[in-house]
Amino acid sequence: MGRLNGKTAVITGGNSGIGLATAKLFVDEGAKVVIFGRDGSTLDRAATALGPAAVGVQGDVTHVEDLQRAFGLARNRFGKVDVVFANAGVAEFRPLEMIDNAHFTRQFDINVKGVLSTVQQALPHLNNPASIVLTTSGVNKIGLPMSSVYSATKAAVRSFARTLSAELIGRGVRVNAVSPGYTETPIFGRMGLSEEQIQGIAADALKSVPLGRMADPAEIARVALFLASTESSYLVGVEIDADGGQTSI
Ligand SMILES: NC(=O)c1ccc[n+]([C@@H]2O[C@H](COP(=O)([O-])OP(=O)(O)OC[C@H]3O[C@@H](n4cnc5c(N)ncnc54)[C@H](OP(=O)(O)O)[C@@H]3O)[C@@H](O)[C@H]2O)c1
Repeated sequence: MGRLNGKTAVITGGNSGIGLATAKLFVDEGAKVVIFGRDGSTLDRAATALGPAAVGVQGDVTHVEDLQRAFGLARNRFGKVDVVFANAGVAEFRPLEMIDNAHFTRQFDINVKGVLSTVQQALPHLNNPASIVLTTSGVNKIGLPMSSVYSATKAAVRSFARTLSAELIGRGVRVNAVSPGYTETPIFGRMGLSEEQIQGIAADALKSVPLGRMADPAEIARVALFLASTESSYLVGVEIDADGGQTSI
C-alpha cells in the first residue's frame, strides 16, 4: 500500500529537478498529482512520463489566476487537495554591487510571494487534514557569497513554515519545510553564472558538505514524501535539513 494512496497532491515546479523527482515518488506512492510550471515542453514531457495519475498545468506562481486554475483542476479531476508541495523557485547569484531592482524583485516575487500565493490559493480546496511542504534552502542559515537576495527569500519561506502553521493548524493543515543542500538539478544552469563559476560552486559544494557529494533530487523527494504523508503527523512548523550535514556539523 502506497503512503499516499487516494491522495491528491499539487506540486509547483513539478516539471523539473526536485519537484519532478517528488512527483514521480508521489505517483509511485499512490497519489494523483498536478504538476505546475511555466515551461510547456518540460511540463508535457514530465506529465507523459508520470502517466495517467498526473496532469500538467502550465502557469506562473506570480499569476494568481494560474494557481486558481491549477487547484481548481486538481479538485475537479482528482478530489480535494491533501498535499501541496510549494517548491517552485529560482536562484540568481550576484555580488552585492551587481544587485539591481529586477534581480531583487524577480526572486522575491517568485520565491516568496509565489509561495504565499500558492498556499493562499490552495486553501479553499484543501482537505482536513492536509499537509503543505515548502522548499527552503540550506543557504538561509549560512553566509554564502553572492547569494544575499536568494538566501533572504529562503529565510522568508522558512518563516512562513512557522507563521502559516500557526494560522492553519486549526483547519487541520500542517506546514513544514524541506531544506535541500546542493542538489543536482537544472537550477545551476539557470543562475546567470558562467560555466567556470558553476564549476567553482560544485567544487565548493564538495568541500563544504560532510557527505562529500551533491544530493540526488530523489533524496530530497523522500524527505518531501515524509513531510507530506501521515508518517510526519506530529511535525508542525519544522524545517528538515537535507544537506549532507552542511549546516549541521
Ligand atoms: N538544486 C539545489 O541545489 C537547491 C538547493 C536548495 C534549494 N533548492 C530549491 O529547490 C526548489 C526546486 O529547485 P530545483 O533545484 O529543482 O531547480 P529547477 O530544476 O530549476 O526547478 C525549478 C522549478 O521551479 C519552477 N519555477 C520557477 N519559477 C517559476 C514560476 N514563476 N512559476 C512556476 N514555476 C516556476 C520551474 O519551472 P519552469 O522550468 O517551467 O520555469 C522548475 O520546475 C527551488 O525552490 C530551489 O530554490 C534547490
